[in-house]
Amino acid sequence: MRYCINPDCRERLNTDEAIECKKCTNLLLISNNERPNYNITNDRSYRIIKRLKYNPSACTEIFEVEDLEAGNSEKIKILKAIHDNEITYNGEKIFTLLTRLFQREQRFLYFNENEGIPRGYDVFSYSLKNRKKIHCLVMEKIVGVNLEQWLHENGAIKEKRALKWLEQIVKILDSVHENDFFHRDIKPSNIMWRKLDYKLVLIDFGAVKEINGNISNANGEMMTTQVGTFGYVAPEQDARKAVPQSDFYSLGRTFVYLLTGKHPVYIEPISEWETQIRHPISQPLIDLINDLIKDSPNERPQNTQIILQRLDDIKNCVKENPIFPSSKLSIIMSQMKTLPPQVDNPDSNFRSWSGLIKSSVIVLGIGGLIALVLLFIGRNTQPTNKNNPPISPTSKNI
Ligand SMILES: Nc1ncnc2c1ncn2[C@@H]1O[C@H](COP(=O)(O)OP(=O)(O)O)[C@@H](O)[C@H]1O
Ligand SMILES: [Mg+2]
Repeated sequence: MRYCINPDCRERLNTDEAIECKKCTNLLLISNNERPNYNITNDRSYRIIKRLKYNPSACTEIFEVEDLEAGNSEKIKILKAIHDNEITYNGEKIFTLLTRLFQREQRFLYFNENEGIPRGYDVFSYSLKNRKKIHCLVMEKIVGVNLEQWLHENGAIKEKRALKWLEQIVKILDSVHENDFFHRDIKPSNIMWRKLDYKLVLIDFGAVKEINGNISNANGEMMTTQVGTFGYVAPEQDARKAVPQSDFYSLGRTFVYLLTGKHPVYIEPISEWETQIRHPISQPLIDLINDLIKDSPNERPQNTQIILQRLDDIKNCVKENPIFPSSKLSIIMSQMKTLPPQVDNPDSNFRSWSGLIKSSVIVLGIGGLIALVLLFIGRNTQPTNKNNPPISPTSKNI
C-alpha cells in the first residue's frame, strides 16, 4: 500500500500502483528536492508504507518508508514529518516554533555518529499541492521495541539488566552532553531496545537543546522552550531552566518505572519508590537512583563520568557480594510480601502465578506437618499387643 503524506487527506491509503493520492491528488512518491545546506547532494525519493505514530499536539507523524534509491539492506527507513496546524500561540505560529525544534533534531541526528542514536540520512521540506510545507527527517529504522512496549511484554527488570541498561544510556548521554547538547525528554518510550545486538538506542531528539543555547520568540525575546513529559521532567526544566543534570533526573525516573513497573506519577510519595520494586536490588543502586532524582540539580551527580564511576563500583560490589547485605533490603522484601495486587502492573500475570505457587507450597507444607503429627499420634496410640483392643476415648469412658 502507499500512504499519502498530506495530514489533511481523508483517505490516505492508496494501492501499490497509484502515482498520486486518489483523494487529494498529492504525489505518493516524496522527493527530497528542497534540501537545506547540509552537503546532501543525492536526489532521493521515498514511498510511505505505513504510519507508525501520530502526535497531534506536536503536529508530528512517524512513517515507515521505502528509500527507492537505497540498496536492499537499507531500503526501509523512518521518516519523521512535522506539518502546519495553523494554530498560533502568543502571536507566533506553533509550526514556526516546532520547525526550530525540528531543525535541531535534524541537524543533531544528521551529524551525530554514535551507534546509540539513529543515523540521520536525509533532511528536506516537501510542498503539498495546497502549498503547505511539511518538514521531513529520514533516519535509520531501529528494529526492536521501545522500553514501554518491552516492559509490557516482559515485566519489571532485575538488577543485572538495570545496571547494564543504565550504563548504556549514560554512555550515549555522555556523547550527547560532550557535544554540548542535552536531550530533555528521556523516558521509556524514547528509548528503544534494538533486536540486532540487544542494545539500547536513544530516540526522539525533538527537544534536544544546545547547552547555553536559547531561542528567541517572534518578538525577539530570548526564551527556553518548555518540553518534557509529566512524571519524568525535572522541576527546574518545568520552570524553563533546564540544565544537563535535568537529563539525569528523567533517567532516574525512567529506571524507577523500569524497576517497579509503575509510572512514576502513580508512586506516591515518589521517595518511597524502592518499596515497590519487583525484584531485590542492592542498596548502592537504590542510592544512585535516589541521587539522580534529587529535586535540586546541584545535588544530582554533576556529569556522566561520575555516574559511570558509581556504576562500576556497584558492579564490583555486586560481584563480590551476590547477596548484598542491606537492612533496608530486608524491609523492602518483607513489604513486597504485603503489597496489594496492582492493576497497572504489566507483569501481574507473573505475580499471580508466583503467588499461586507460593500458596500451594504453604498449603502442602502445612498439610505435610499435620500428616506428620497424625502419624506420630497414631504410632503412640497403636496397640503393642494385638490381643488388647485399642483404647479410644469412648471405650475409656465405658
Ligand atoms: N528511528 C526509529 N526506528 C524505529 N522506530 C522509531 C524510530 N523513531 C521513532 N520510532 C517509533 O515511533 C515512536 C514515536 O517516535 P518519537 O520520535 O518518540 O516521536 P514523538 O515525538 O511522537 O514521541 C517511538 O516510540 C518508536 O516506537
Ligand atoms: Mg517520543
